[in-house]
Amino acid sequence: MQAKNALVTGAAGFLGYHLCSRLLKEGYAVFGVDDICTGLNSNAEELKKKGVEFVKSDVSNDWDQWATSLPSSFDLVFHFASPASPPLYQKMQLKTLAVNSLGLYRALEFATSHKARLVFASTSEVYGSPQVSPQPESYWGNTNSFGARSCYDEAKRFGEALIYSYNQEKNTRHGLVRIFNTYGPNMNPNDGRVIINFLVQLKEGKPLTIHGDGKQTRSFCYVDDLIEGIYRYALKTDLAYPINLGNDKEFTILALAQEIQKLSPKKIEIEFTDRPVDDPPLRNPDLSLAKGILDWSPKVPLLEGLKKILETL
Ligand SMILES: NC(=O)c1ccc[n+]([C@@H]2O[C@H](COP(=O)([O-])OP(=O)(O)OC[C@H]3O[C@@H](n4cnc5c(N)ncnc54)[C@H](O)[C@@H]3O)[C@@H](O)[C@H]2O)c1
Repeated sequence: MQAKNALVTGAAGFLGYHLCSRLLKEGYAVFGVDDICTGLNSNAEELKKKGVEFVKSDVSNDWDQWATSLPSSFDLVFHFASPASPPLYQKMQLKTLAVNSLGLYRALEFATSHKARLVFASTSEVYGSPQVSPQPESYWGNTNSFGARSCYDEAKRFGEALIYSYNQEKNTRHGLVRIFNTYGPNMNPNDGRVIINFLVQLKEGKPLTIHGDGKQTRSFCYVDDLIEGIYRYALKTDLAYPINLGNDKEFTILALAQEIQKLSPKKIEIEFTDRPVDDPPLRNPDLSLAKGILDWSPKVPLLEGLKKILETL
């Protein structure tokens, strides 16, 4: 039987690592590419040990140097490369814009010429500061095209538009998932996203820092649940439109900090700091499409997921 090949960009990142691991389990020959600008060398090393063929390269640049030596046909391409946490993408704004436009275009060309289905990691940030909650896929969003978060939010919106137009003109069926906050092992501890921040602070016995008054809401999906959803979308469907994936149990950031306090054997304080510019006040996915079409829903409760990640820190 011919080997099934999959390429994952952003393979050394948090989600890339888990996606590659899942694809290996499903019997794929897995090829990963990453320039490790926000990911972890240790993720790349672990993947290589598991059998992933790994290339270090910036996917916004020309792919010829490394892609010409890959197999001539692929089943799946996942374009997951992109800085993803606000502090990191704000340090790499042009790079973030490039990887979700130029990088995605190169990935689409590669996938199409290798007869593969591409799935793009889009985000709940396309909804911006939503005026509708929970957010269904049909909601057009409320984003700021000229501000601190624009390089990420608008880059992902451009990426979605690129997939739409590419499919229209080239008669392809590439797809995209809108991922809501996800957490789990193998995240960069310096990433700056809220759960990993709190857990690192807990480990170091430092106060948990909340930006603003903590009344802003988020929902948190454990990585194994998310990967299952992505896997079903990519393999079990040929959908060419977005589907929300995440957890629809909504928490305030203050409630999250209080859950995390419970995990500490000693008393740990909460500190309040300034709220970042354009930080959305709420975020909660409408999962009706994912539940109906993919027969998928998140399973891992927050406390259980937090304990799993804490064991690895
Ligand atoms: N984790 C989440 O909660 C979440 C939510 C919404 C969307 N996403 C999207 O999922 C994808 C993965 O996110 P993550 O949480 O694993 O972040 P991550 O930062 O851990 O992983 C991203 C990886 O992409 C790599 N990368 C960035 N730019 C690159 C480039 N130009 N060339 C090659 N490699 C590059 C980084 O080095 C990193 O390893 C991103 O596209 C992100 O926007 C993630």
